[in-house]
Amino acid sequence: MTKIVNSWNDFDPLKHVIVGRADNSVIPPEEPATSEKVPVDSEMRGMWGPRPTETVEKANAQLDNYAKVLEGLGVKVDRPTPLQWNQEIKTPDFRTESGMTQMPPRDILLTIGNEIMASANSFRCRYFEYLAYWPLMNEYFEADPEFKWTQAPRPRLTDKSYKHNYYDEKITLEERLVRTANKDFVTTEAEPMWDAADVMRMGKDLFIQHGLTTNLKAMEWFKRYYPDLRVHSLNFPGDPYPIHIDATFVPLRPGLIINNPHRPLPEDQRKIFEANDWEIVSAATPAHDEPPALCYSSVWLSMNCLVVDHKTVIVEESEVYQAEQMDKLGMNVIPVPLRDAYAFGGGLHCATADVYREGGCEDYFPNQAGDTTLV
Ligand code: ALA
Repeated sequence: MTKIVNSWNDFDPLKHVIVGRADNSVIPPEEPATSEKVPVDSEMRGMWGPRPTETVEKANAQLDNYAKVLEGLGVKVDRPTPLQWNQEIKTPDFRTESGMTQMPPRDILLTIGNEIMASANSFRCRYFEYLAYWPLMNEYFEADPEFKWTQAPRPRLTDKSYKHNYYDEKITLEERLVRTANKDFVTTEAEPMWDAADVMRMGKDLFIQHGLTTNLKAMEWFKRYYPDLRVHSLNFPGDPYPIHIDATFVPLRPGLIINNPHRPLPEDQRKIFEANDWEIVSAATPAHDEPPALCYSSVWLSMNCLVVDHKTVIVEESEVYQAEQMDKLGMNVIPVPLRDAYAFGGGLHCATADVYREGGCEDYFPNQAGDTTLV
């Protein structure tokens, strides 16, 4: 019997991973969920269509190299099967002009134990992105009799799923921060919607970011689907575009998390970490003042590292301050260039999805202190 799929957290020894590809990537047209995600001063505003071939080639060169580095560390690497994203997406409920990419598998696939679940993304353009991973899921399904191949309930993404007066280009950064601090996001509670990259897995506990891409109904859904796990809602008020937890709150090993200093976890939500002797350290300053061209993410992709085991971490090659901090925190740092791939959907963590890590479902938080558990 072959065991292919097993992963309960982001730090136990990594043995098998999926690394995304940039082929056929498209900047999608604006839609209710994405208009808020693209920063107001981004050069991507009002622009859509296939990404320039030269940028796709450069991104793929770095992704291929990243895959080789992982293989050199003894990690098996699989790659998705690209689809042609430059085509219309149509369901009985909505229609949009294109898909997006299969670069950040982390947004789409959530591995919990022996199960890999495709997420319930709020972007209409991402509705069929899971298809790029289905050949791999089928392979795992044939080889591993315990593998659970799952699709979360598909959201309908009708107009009811979004606030239609939400996007306002005249709003100041301060006003935007007040809105996110008040947990006022573009998505409504019409149906469960979530991106897998909003979920931080910690054995028995799932810490899920409530933000632009994941709503509270999704957390309620998780709670019922995984009755043996504890579901916590986290939010990070300093983030004007709260999307995905992995450039904000990143565990390095049991007991240690780095937190984006611009997006500190509020006091009441820190209690559960403190009560269980977890240290939350402010992450180092990014090495860059701006993200690369046509990139959705912030400079804080500096934190978006891939932990290979409790002592080893892959950090983007140019992120010298983050690498230096990791070294001081007792990690061996492996630098890997990936900045040319950032625009396609993120950094080293975003660009991967776990298939197999050693270890089981540990209870890291026996003391359930504070105010994060959903009741
Ligand atoms: N949304 C995250 C950031 O850009 C990845 O910081």
